[in-house]
Amino acid sequence: MRSEPSGAGPGRRKPLISGNWKMHHTHLEAIQVVQKLSYRLRPADYGAVDVSVHPPFTGLRSIQTLLDADRIPISLGAQNCHWEDQGAFTGEISAAMLAKLTVAYVIVGHSERRQLFAEDDAAVARKLGAVMRHSMTPILCVGETLEEREAGSAQTKVESQVEAALDGVSADQVGALVVAYEPIWAIGTGRTATAEDAQTMCAAVRSVVARVAGDGPAGAVRVQYGGSVNVTNIAELMAQPDVDGALVGGASLDPDTFARIVQYREDG
Ligand code: PGA
Repeated sequence: MRSEPSGAGPGRRKPLISGNWKMHHTHLEAIQVVQKLSYRLRPADYGAVDVSVHPPFTGLRSIQTLLDADRIPISLGAQNCHWEDQGAFTGEISAAMLAKLTVAYVIVGHSERRQLFAEDDAAVARKLGAVMRHSMTPILCVGETLEEREAGSAQTKVESQVEAALDGVSADQVGALVVAYEPIWAIGTGRTATAEDAQTMCAAVRSVVARVAGDGPAGAVRVQYGGSVNVTNIAELMAQPDVDGALVGGASLDPDTFARIVQYREDG
């Protein structure tokens, strides 16, 4: 069933490995984690892999200052944003505010946002637009539930999420974004998708991009796998031709572990 769009072969895209800290680490802890991470990562690592960290909002300014002052080539990421630039939205943070903090990547539509905070495809699409409008890169999260996988509708679900999010996005912009395929049953459960399933689903994401935006953007878009990524499974996942990186939750909280994940090429 797999169709690989022309021009979308392996080895053309620089991998992106992102640490999604969720609601963990105060700004003081976040500083320590990034410092330790920077001691462990070497120029060759940054040459081979783009790395981003996504602290809670309260840590962004501190980490921005640290990355800047010590010239650490880790990209700053956020976990969410609002689609309006400003307004009466108590408790929300806008993409415009994140851009001012030199945030490079914003996670959009994480399954925890979709499930626990009732974000629908329409909200996700608006957030995606806001992130791009402010010249940041969205990490668009898609993924199926266990019931959907067991019912055989995983691919349909993921394809429809990608299509809904990309509606109205120009072909150029589509090529620049990152999509994270994260099966919900694999998030925080210790149960990872097999490398083969991850490949099939990441290839399916790329096929949707080819269909809506053409082969150029499909070959350029980076597709991450997320869901219980750790030091033991990263190399096999990264060996798949359509897996261009990983969105790492629990295993990114510890700088030693996260550094080893980024250095997956050495562990195999
Ligand atoms: P996990 O989380 O690595 O802890 O499974 C991944 C994610 O939710 O992005």
